[in-house]
Amino acid sequence: MKIKVLGSAAGGGFPQWNCNCHNCDGVRRGTVKAKRRTQSSIAVSANGEDWLLVNASPDLLAQIAANPELQPARQPRDTGIAAVLVMDAQIDHVTGLLMLRERGTPLPLYATPAVWQDLSTGFPIGPILSHYCGVEHHAIALGGAPIVLAALPRVRIDPLPLTSKAPPYSPHREAPERGDNIGLVVTNLDTGKRAFYAPGLGVLEPHVLAAMQDMDLLLVDGTTWTNDEMIRLGFSKKTAADMGHLPQSGPGGMIEVLDGIGASPARPVRKVLIHINNTNPILVEDGPERRTLAEHGIELAEDGMTFEL
Ligand code: MLT
Ligand code: MN
Ligand code: ZN
Repeated sequence: MKIKVLGSAAGGGFPQWNCNCHNCDGVRRGTVKAKRRTQSSIAVSANGEDWLLVNASPDLLAQIAANPELQPARQPRDTGIAAVLVMDAQIDHVTGLLMLRERGTPLPLYATPAVWQDLSTGFPIGPILSHYCGVEHHAIALGGAPIVLAALPRVRIDPLPLTSKAPPYSPHREAPERGDNIGLVVTNLDTGKRAFYAPGLGVLEPHVLAAMQDMDLLLVDGTTWTNDEMIRLGFSKKTAADMGHLPQSGPGGMIEVLDGIGASPARPVRKVLIHINNTNPILVEDGPERRTLAEHGIELAEDGMTFEL
Protein backbone atom coordinates (compact mmCIF):
# COMPACT_ATOMS: atom_id res chain seq x y z
CA MET A 1 0.00 0.00 0.00
CA LYS A 2 1.24 3.45 -0.90
CA ILE A 3 0.30 6.73 0.74
CA LYS A 4 1.34 9.85 -1.17
CA VAL A 5 1.29 13.33 0.26
CA LEU A 6 -0.10 15.52 -2.50
CA GLY A 7 -0.38 18.65 -0.37
CA SER A 8 1.09 19.25 3.08
CA ALA A 9 -0.02 22.86 3.78
CA ALA A 10 -3.14 24.10 5.54
CA GLY A 11 -5.75 26.29 3.82
CA GLY A 12 -4.04 29.04 1.81
CA GLY A 13 -0.96 26.94 1.01
CA PHE A 14 2.64 28.05 1.43
CA PRO A 15 3.36 30.73 0.46
CA GLN A 16 -0.19 32.05 0.69
CA TRP A 17 -1.02 34.39 -2.21
CA ASN A 18 -1.67 37.51 -0.11
CA CYS A 19 0.65 36.84 2.83
CA ASN A 20 3.89 38.57 3.68
CA CYS A 21 4.55 36.92 7.01
CA HIS A 22 8.17 36.01 7.78
CA ASN A 23 7.75 32.57 6.18
CA CYS A 24 5.74 33.51 3.06
CA ASP A 25 7.87 36.55 2.23
CA GLY A 26 11.06 34.63 3.01
CA VAL A 27 10.27 31.61 0.84
CA ARG A 28 9.34 33.93 -2.06
CA ARG A 29 12.58 35.88 -1.78
CA GLY A 30 14.69 32.84 -1.01
CA THR A 31 15.81 34.32 2.32
CA VAL A 32 14.17 31.61 4.42
CA LYS A 33 15.20 27.96 4.09
CA ALA A 34 11.80 26.33 3.55
CA LYS A 35 9.90 24.34 0.91
CA ARG A 36 6.76 25.51 -0.86
CA ARG A 37 3.70 23.44 -0.15
CA THR A 38 0.26 22.99 -1.71
CA GLN A 39 -2.99 22.54 0.21
CA SER A 40 -3.90 19.48 2.25
CA SER A 41 -4.46 16.16 0.47
CA ILE A 42 -3.16 12.60 0.34
CA ALA A 43 -3.73 9.69 -2.05
CA VAL A 44 -3.83 5.99 -1.14
CA SER A 45 -3.28 3.06 -3.48
CA ALA A 46 -2.99 -0.71 -3.23
CA ASN A 47 -1.50 -1.30 -6.70
CA GLY A 48 0.14 2.07 -7.49
CA GLU A 49 -2.31 2.69 -10.34
CA ASP A 50 -5.77 3.13 -8.80
CA TRP A 51 -5.91 5.79 -6.11
CA LEU A 52 -8.32 6.99 -3.47
CA LEU A 53 -7.95 10.75 -3.26
CA VAL A 54 -8.42 11.78 0.36
CA ASN A 55 -9.51 15.42 0.31
CA ALA A 56 -9.73 17.39 -2.92
CA SER A 57 -7.58 20.46 -2.53
CA PRO A 58 -7.98 23.73 -4.47
CA ASP A 59 -4.49 22.84 -5.82
CA LEU A 60 -5.63 19.47 -7.18
CA LEU A 61 -4.75 20.11 -10.83
CA ALA A 62 -1.19 21.13 -9.91
CA GLN A 63 -0.95 18.09 -7.64
CA ILE A 64 -2.05 15.76 -10.45
CA ALA A 65 0.53 17.35 -12.72
CA ALA A 66 3.24 16.92 -10.08
CA ASN A 67 2.38 13.24 -9.48
CA PRO A 68 2.30 11.39 -12.85
CA GLU A 69 1.18 8.17 -11.16
CA LEU A 70 -2.27 9.79 -10.90
CA GLN A 71 -2.51 9.70 -14.71
CA PRO A 72 -1.90 6.09 -15.87
CA ALA A 73 -3.00 6.95 -19.49
CA ARG A 74 -4.73 3.62 -20.17
CA GLN A 75 -7.24 5.20 -22.59
CA PRO A 76 -7.89 8.53 -24.35
CA ARG A 77 -9.61 9.97 -21.26
CA ASP A 78 -8.34 8.47 -18.02
CA THR A 79 -7.43 9.11 -14.41
CA GLY A 80 -5.81 7.18 -11.61
CA ILE A 81 -8.28 8.76 -9.19
CA ALA A 82 -10.80 5.95 -8.71
CA ALA A 83 -12.75 7.69 -5.94
CA VAL A 84 -12.58 10.63 -3.56
CA LEU A 85 -13.10 10.72 0.19
CA VAL A 86 -13.50 14.04 2.01
CA MET A 87 -12.89 14.31 5.75
CA ASP A 88 -14.80 17.54 6.24
CA ALA A 89 -16.49 20.20 4.08
CA GLN A 90 -13.75 22.84 4.44
CA ILE A 91 -12.76 24.84 1.34
CA ASP A 92 -9.21 23.46 1.40
CA HIS A 93 -10.51 19.87 1.34
CA VAL A 94 -13.40 19.98 -1.15
CA THR A 95 -12.87 22.74 -3.75
CA GLY A 96 -10.84 20.39 -5.97
CA LEU A 97 -14.01 18.32 -6.56
CA LEU A 98 -15.08 21.02 -9.03
CA MET A 99 -11.87 20.40 -10.99
CA LEU A 100 -12.92 16.79 -11.65
CA ARG A 101 -16.10 17.80 -13.55
CA GLU A 102 -14.81 16.63 -16.97
CA ARG A 103 -15.16 12.98 -15.92
CA GLY A 104 -17.30 10.81 -18.18
CA THR A 105 -19.05 9.06 -15.28
CA PRO A 106 -20.39 10.27 -11.91
CA LEU A 107 -17.64 10.88 -9.36
CA PRO A 108 -17.63 8.29 -6.55
CA LEU A 109 -17.51 10.45 -3.42
CA TYR A 110 -17.25 9.13 0.13
CA ALA A 111 -18.50 11.60 2.74
CA THR A 112 -20.41 11.47 6.01
CA PRO A 113 -24.08 12.55 5.93
CA ALA A 114 -23.12 15.79 7.79
CA VAL A 115 -20.46 16.67 5.19
CA TRP A 116 -22.71 15.70 2.28
CA GLN A 117 -25.41 17.98 3.72
CA ASP A 118 -22.93 20.90 3.66
CA LEU A 119 -21.89 20.00 0.11
CA SER A 120 -25.57 20.01 -0.89
CA THR A 121 -26.47 23.34 0.80
CA GLY A 122 -23.94 25.81 2.26
CA PHE A 123 -21.27 24.97 -0.36
CA PRO A 124 -23.44 23.24 -3.02
CA ILE A 125 -20.71 21.38 -4.90
CA GLY A 126 -23.01 18.33 -5.24
CA PRO A 127 -25.83 20.23 -7.02
CA ILE A 128 -23.28 22.10 -9.16
CA LEU A 129 -21.56 18.89 -10.26
CA SER A 130 -24.94 17.39 -11.16
CA HIS A 131 -24.75 19.68 -14.24
CA TYR A 132 -21.41 18.09 -15.21
CA CYS A 133 -20.27 14.55 -14.33
CA GLY A 134 -22.56 14.15 -11.32
CA VAL A 135 -21.68 12.64 -7.97
CA GLU A 136 -22.24 9.09 -6.80
CA HIS A 137 -22.40 9.68 -3.04
CA HIS A 138 -21.37 6.86 -0.74
CA ALA A 139 -22.34 7.67 2.85
CA ILE A 140 -19.58 7.09 5.39
CA ALA A 141 -21.20 5.44 8.40
CA LEU A 142 -19.68 6.03 11.83
CA GLY A 143 -21.06 2.95 13.52
CA GLY A 144 -17.89 0.91 13.19
CA ALA A 145 -18.25 -0.41 9.65
CA PRO A 146 -15.07 0.01 7.56
CA ILE A 147 -15.06 1.66 4.14
CA VAL A 148 -14.24 -0.90 1.48
CA LEU A 149 -13.42 0.15 -2.08
CA ALA A 150 -13.20 -2.20 -5.05
CA ALA A 151 -10.31 -0.09 -6.39
CA LEU A 152 -8.29 -0.69 -3.21
CA PRO A 153 -8.40 -4.43 -2.61
CA ARG A 154 -6.93 -5.58 0.70
CA VAL A 155 -7.03 -2.04 2.09
CA ARG A 156 -9.34 -1.32 4.99
CA ILE A 157 -10.34 2.21 5.93
CA ASP A 158 -11.88 2.89 9.31
CA PRO A 159 -13.44 6.33 9.81
CA LEU A 160 -13.22 7.95 13.24
CA PRO A 161 -15.52 10.80 14.30
CA LEU A 162 -13.56 13.85 15.53
CA THR A 163 -14.86 16.70 17.63
CA SER A 164 -14.53 19.91 15.66
CA LYS A 165 -16.68 22.41 13.86
CA ALA A 166 -18.37 22.48 10.49
CA PRO A 167 -17.17 25.28 8.15
CA PRO A 168 -18.52 28.85 8.45
CA TYR A 169 -20.97 28.26 5.54
CA SER A 170 -22.45 25.11 7.04
CA PRO A 171 -26.13 25.32 8.03
CA HIS A 172 -25.12 23.57 11.27
CA ARG A 173 -21.95 25.57 12.02
CA GLU A 174 -23.14 26.39 15.55
CA ALA A 175 -24.67 22.97 16.20
CA PRO A 176 -21.86 20.47 15.64
CA GLU A 177 -22.90 17.08 14.29
CA ARG A 178 -21.15 13.76 14.55
CA GLY A 179 -19.42 13.38 11.21
CA ASP A 180 -18.58 17.06 10.59
CA ASN A 181 -14.93 15.96 10.77
CA ILE A 182 -13.40 12.52 10.65
CA GLY A 183 -9.99 10.92 10.96
CA LEU A 184 -9.00 7.71 9.19
CA VAL A 185 -7.18 4.53 10.08
CA VAL A 186 -5.90 2.94 6.86
CA THR A 187 -4.77 -0.69 7.09
CA ASN A 188 -2.96 -2.86 4.58
CA LEU A 189 -4.60 -6.22 5.27
CA ASP A 190 -1.69 -8.10 3.66
CA THR A 191 1.17 -6.55 5.66
CA GLY A 192 -0.86 -5.56 8.73
CA LYS A 193 0.64 -2.06 8.54
CA ARG A 194 -1.51 0.84 9.63
CA ALA A 195 -1.61 4.59 9.20
CA PHE A 196 -3.62 7.17 11.12
CA TYR A 197 -4.49 10.34 9.21
CA ALA A 198 -6.04 13.43 10.80
CA PRO A 199 -5.09 16.82 9.29
CA GLY A 200 -7.47 18.51 11.74
CA LEU A 201 -7.26 17.23 15.29
CA GLY A 202 -8.43 19.81 17.82
CA VAL A 203 -9.38 17.54 20.69
CA LEU A 204 -7.64 14.32 21.66
CA GLU A 205 -10.59 12.30 22.89
CA PRO A 206 -9.94 8.90 24.47
CA HIS A 207 -11.18 6.99 21.40
CA VAL A 208 -8.81 9.05 19.21
CA LEU A 209 -5.80 8.52 21.48
CA ALA A 210 -6.61 4.82 21.59
CA ALA A 211 -6.71 4.68 17.78
CA MET A 212 -3.32 6.41 17.57
CA GLN A 213 -1.55 3.59 19.41
CA ASP A 214 0.02 0.73 17.48
CA MET A 215 0.33 2.63 14.21
CA ASP A 216 3.20 2.45 11.76
CA LEU A 217 2.51 5.98 10.56
CA LEU A 218 0.86 8.95 12.27
CA LEU A 219 0.02 11.76 9.85
CA VAL A 220 -1.45 14.40 12.10
CA ASP A 221 -2.44 18.04 12.48
CA GLY A 222 0.59 20.33 12.17
CA THR A 223 -1.33 23.56 11.60
CA THR A 224 0.21 25.94 14.15
CA TRP A 225 3.06 26.02 16.67
CA THR A 226 1.18 28.10 19.26
CA ASN A 227 -2.53 28.47 19.90
CA ASP A 228 -2.51 32.27 19.38
CA GLU A 229 -0.10 32.32 16.39
CA MET A 230 -2.55 33.84 13.89
CA ILE A 231 -3.78 36.44 16.42
CA ARG A 232 -0.28 37.49 17.50
CA LEU A 233 0.74 38.04 13.89
CA GLY A 234 -2.42 40.09 13.36
CA PHE A 235 -3.83 37.73 10.70
CA SER A 236 -6.90 36.36 12.44
CA LYS A 237 -9.14 36.69 15.46
CA LYS A 238 -9.27 32.91 15.82
CA THR A 239 -7.06 30.66 17.91
CA ALA A 240 -5.94 27.27 16.61
CA ALA A 241 -8.47 25.70 18.99
CA ASP A 242 -11.27 27.89 17.55
CA MET A 243 -10.46 26.38 14.14
CA GLY A 244 -10.34 22.81 15.47
CA HIS A 245 -6.56 22.47 15.50
CA LEU A 246 -4.13 21.45 18.25
CA PRO A 247 -0.91 23.52 18.41
CA GLN A 248 2.40 21.68 18.68
CA SER A 249 4.10 23.50 21.57
CA GLY A 250 3.11 23.90 25.22
CA PRO A 251 1.31 21.72 27.74
CA GLY A 252 -1.12 19.32 26.11
CA GLY A 253 0.23 20.24 22.68
CA MET A 254 0.90 17.81 19.84
CA ILE A 255 4.57 17.26 20.80
CA GLU A 256 3.48 16.12 24.26
CA VAL A 257 0.75 13.94 22.78
CA LEU A 258 3.15 12.29 20.33
CA ASP A 259 5.77 11.81 23.07
CA GLY A 260 3.17 9.77 24.92
CA ILE A 261 2.76 7.35 22.03
CA GLY A 262 5.17 4.54 22.58
CA ALA A 263 6.92 2.70 19.82
CA SER A 264 8.16 -0.83 20.22
CA PRO A 265 11.17 -2.13 18.30
CA ALA A 266 8.68 -4.43 16.55
CA ARG A 267 6.56 -1.48 15.49
CA PRO A 268 8.61 1.69 15.07
CA VAL A 269 6.20 4.52 14.36
CA ARG A 270 6.83 7.47 12.08
CA LYS A 271 5.32 10.63 13.51
CA VAL A 272 4.69 13.14 10.75
CA LEU A 273 2.99 16.55 10.88
CA ILE A 274 0.78 17.56 7.96
CA HIS A 275 -1.63 20.45 7.16
CA ILE A 276 0.97 23.05 8.15
CA ASN A 277 -0.11 26.66 8.19
CA ASN A 278 2.14 29.14 6.41
CA THR A 279 2.72 31.10 9.65
CA ASN A 280 4.13 28.05 11.47
CA PRO A 281 7.83 28.51 12.39
CA ILE A 282 8.44 24.75 11.94
CA LEU A 283 8.50 25.41 8.18
CA VAL A 284 11.93 27.02 8.62
CA GLU A 285 14.30 24.10 8.11
CA ASP A 286 17.18 25.54 10.11
CA GLY A 287 15.05 27.10 12.85
CA PRO A 288 14.86 26.21 16.56
CA GLU A 289 11.27 24.90 16.39
CA ARG A 290 12.24 22.43 13.68
CA ARG A 291 15.16 21.29 15.86
CA THR A 292 12.78 20.75 18.76
CA LEU A 293 10.59 18.55 16.56
CA ALA A 294 13.63 16.53 15.46
CA GLU A 295 14.62 16.01 19.10
CA HIS A 296 11.20 14.47 19.65
CA GLY A 297 11.47 12.27 16.55
CA ILE A 298 8.78 14.22 14.71
CA GLU A 299 8.99 14.82 10.95
CA LEU A 300 7.26 17.30 8.63
CA ALA A 301 5.28 16.14 5.63
CA GLU A 302 6.38 17.53 2.27
CA ASP A 303 4.53 17.50 -1.03
CA GLY A 304 5.41 14.36 -2.96
CA MET A 305 6.45 12.34 0.10
CA THR A 306 5.52 8.65 -0.26
CA PHE A 307 5.02 6.07 2.45
CA GLU A 308 5.07 2.36 1.68
CA LEU A 309 3.11 0.35 4.23
C1 MLT B 1 -8.71 24.87 8.51
O1 MLT B 1 -8.42 23.69 8.54
O2 MLT B 1 -8.94 25.53 9.53
C2 MLT B 1 -8.71 25.46 7.16
O3 MLT B 1 -7.45 25.28 6.57
C3 MLT B 1 -9.31 26.76 7.00
C4 MLT B 1 -9.31 27.20 5.57
O4 MLT B 1 -9.41 26.39 4.64
O5 MLT B 1 -9.20 28.40 5.34
MN1 MN C 1 -7.74 23.01 6.61
ZN1 ZN D 1 2.22 33.63 5.55
